[in-house]
Amino acid sequence: MKSKMKGATIAGAIGATLLVAVAVAQTPAITFRNTITGEVLNFDDALPEGRDTPGVKKFLQTGVNPYNEDKSCLKLGEQIFLSACSGCHGHLAEGKIGPGLNDSYWTYPQNETDEGLFSTIYGGAQASMGPQFVNLSLDDMLKVMAWVRHLFKEEPEKAKWLTDEQRKAFKSYSGHEEFPDDPPGQCKGQAAAK
Ligand code: HEC
Repeated sequence: MKSKMKGATIAGAIGATLLVAVAVAQTPAITFRNTITGEVLNFDDALPEGRDTPGVKKFLQTGVNPYNEDKSCLKLGEQIFLSACSGCHGHLAEGKIGPGLNDSYWTYPQNETDEGLFSTIYGGAQASMGPQFVNLSLDDMLKVMAWVRHLFKEEPEKAKWLTDEQRKAFKSYSGHEEFPDDPPGQCKGQAAAK
């Protein structure tokens, strides 16, 4: 009887450990929360494509967008911005129906981190800022975020979302930059919608 119980306890312990291990593998290291409600975002709702690219995996673990400053992703990010955001936020994110996204003033201060910006895009905010997970894949959200950050017009020191290393290379937006057709980088070879 005693040893039976011991066996059950060990089996239980192994079971619990496995459960924890599985849960850890599936849960992002960072808890992303809805900008308005604070509810934990559920990535099960994300579009099936582009949800486990290396870029998305890295971002969900670290909160650092690996596409910032990567020209191959910026080029695609611009196209996504022009089709999904600029109608409300303006061509250069200068603000229109929705607020400007190219300066350091944020209605929701958490948007100065990429974790916060991603949460706002994924889960939406108020009024016509609806959740974008219905339109954009997680990977495309990272690309459009990189473009929004690229449009930032103030000093690099105010670019809170950048790592120290990225900040050294960062240049405030100063007019349109022409990118080569398929620049090298992490998003190279992905179809650019024309
Ligand atoms: C239909 C219009 C509309 C579209 C499309 C739209 N937005 Fe918005 N957005 C708004 C409005 C209106 C607000 C203000 C909402 C609020 O204050 O809660 C807003 C707020 C935001 C904010 C919060 C800004 C702050 O100051 O904290 C971010 C970030 C944002 N939008 C990013 C985006 C991005 C990126 C896209 C494209 C993927 C997008 N939006 C598409 C209308 C839109």
